[in-house]
Amino acid sequence: MATTASLKLDDKEFPLPIIVGTEGEKAIDTRALRATTGYIAFDQGYGNTGSCESKITYLDGDNGILRHRGYPIEQLASRSDFVETAYLVIYGELPTLAQRKDFGLLLRKNAAVETQMQKILEGFPTAASPMAMLSALVSALPAYHADLATNNFEKDLQTFDLAAAIAMSKIRTFVAMIYRYQKGLPFMFPKQELPFCDNFLHMMFSEPYKDYIAMPEVSKALNLLLLLHADHEQNCSTSTVRMVGSSASNLFTAISAGVCALAGPLHGGANVAVMHMLQSIHDEGDDGTRFIAAAKSGSKSNRLMGFGHAVYRNFDPRAKIIGEACDTVLKKLGIEDPLLVIAKNLEQAALRDDYFISRKLYPNVDFYSGIIMRALGIPMNMFTTMFAIGRAPGYIANWREVASQPKGRIYRPRQVYVGATKRDYVAIADRK
Ligand code: SDX
Repeated sequence: MATTASLKLDDKEFPLPIIVGTEGEKAIDTRALRATTGYIAFDQGYGNTGSCESKITYLDGDNGILRHRGYPIEQLASRSDFVETAYLVIYGELPTLAQRKDFGLLLRKNAAVETQMQKILEGFPTAASPMAMLSALVSALPAYHADLATNNFEKDLQTFDLAAAIAMSKIRTFVAMIYRYQKGLPFMFPKQELPFCDNFLHMMFSEPYKDYIAMPEVSKALNLLLLLHADHEQNCSTSTVRMVGSSASNLFTAISAGVCALAGPLHGGANVAVMHMLQSIHDEGDDGTRFIAAAKSGSKSNRLMGFGHAVYRNFDPRAKIIGEACDTVLKKLGIEDPLLVIAKNLEQAALRDDYFISRKLYPNVDFYSGIIMRALGIPMNMFTTMFAIGRAPGYIANWREVASQPKGRIYRPRQVYVGATKRDYVAIADRK
């Protein structure tokens, strides 16, 4: 295999090194392009540009492959749980029994949130975006853990384990707090004896004198849902975390920026948009034909939400797993959700339509996830905050890669300027 590419410009040839990943992915290293040729590469949206070398997650979009630290998502989904997969994503290896115990204990010990942080929520109208509230709470963490967020890579890496546990555990608690705040309910303090997901469900749904005890099926379904969101290569919000982290911003600050990126309806916000779409189809007694027809218009605002992916040109393996889990979970909970039937019909109709086939548009992770979350009693406007709980390990692992790079450079893309060329100032009296 070639180790260098050759770029022919005018009458000159420029050798460019080739980088090959452990799974055979090939990249042309353009880091020296501007210095040697005076040209930059152009790739709007970075769809064909590698921003980093990473060891965390491998995606093969053409073959629908997703692996975390080499472990296939299908195996993790069927044999692991969210906390164990989070440990794998963050630290690179499946934990030993002792490591799993210590990590779980660290998460439980850091589940509670300083009472003063509740005042941050009080600054928001109860109908405000849960993602805006979540980002605000996460961005306040450095104020309460200044020793873990010094904005000095070396120091922050020395306290990384505690910072990582705080980020992962408190983001989960923040989501429950946001839910309770919006409902006007008293906050529920975490119970140290409960596992991660059960503690979340307790903080969400317990009443002052009546604890919510999660059914095993509910806890298992939540574990699966969060596990499937744990990391996903250089997606929009994870790249945002890396971008912000590259300026030596601490872990919490970088994650709060990632939460803002995740909120967008084309990204993490899609799980809410899918449910609105399915609900409209249900309310109109439509069979989805109208939505499919509108989606084929090509306008971003009419897209079939939960369909398509920037990387997968085949099935999103997570969508397959969640789709199958939908049936199991709803059956075990004795729930018949008409939106599930609509979603399946919509999927079948779209997958028979040449517009979607020709563009290789398949259901993504967001297409079915809302149906399970609804079955667990989670309100629609909280779905994207659930995505954030799941994605926290990926944000943490990616920030750590940026912080650990010996020759880490601040992310600073270039551009091609297409605005006005040089012109002189004109006094206002002389402007037409
Ligand atoms: C997530 O990156 C990640 O890994 C993200 C994620 C993660 O885990 O972090 O997987 C989570 O964000 C999943 C995606 C959730 N978003 C949605 O479901 C929103 C609907 N999907 C799209 O908006 C779209 O598919 C994107 C944003 C996901 C991907 O957009 P791209 O890669 O920019 O796709 P594109 O615009 O290049 O589309 C190519 C063609 C276009 O048509 P033509 O211009 O060629 O005629 O496909 C069309 C698009 O119009 N198209 C769709 C479509 N998605 C793409 N047409 C109708 N419905 C859609 N959903």
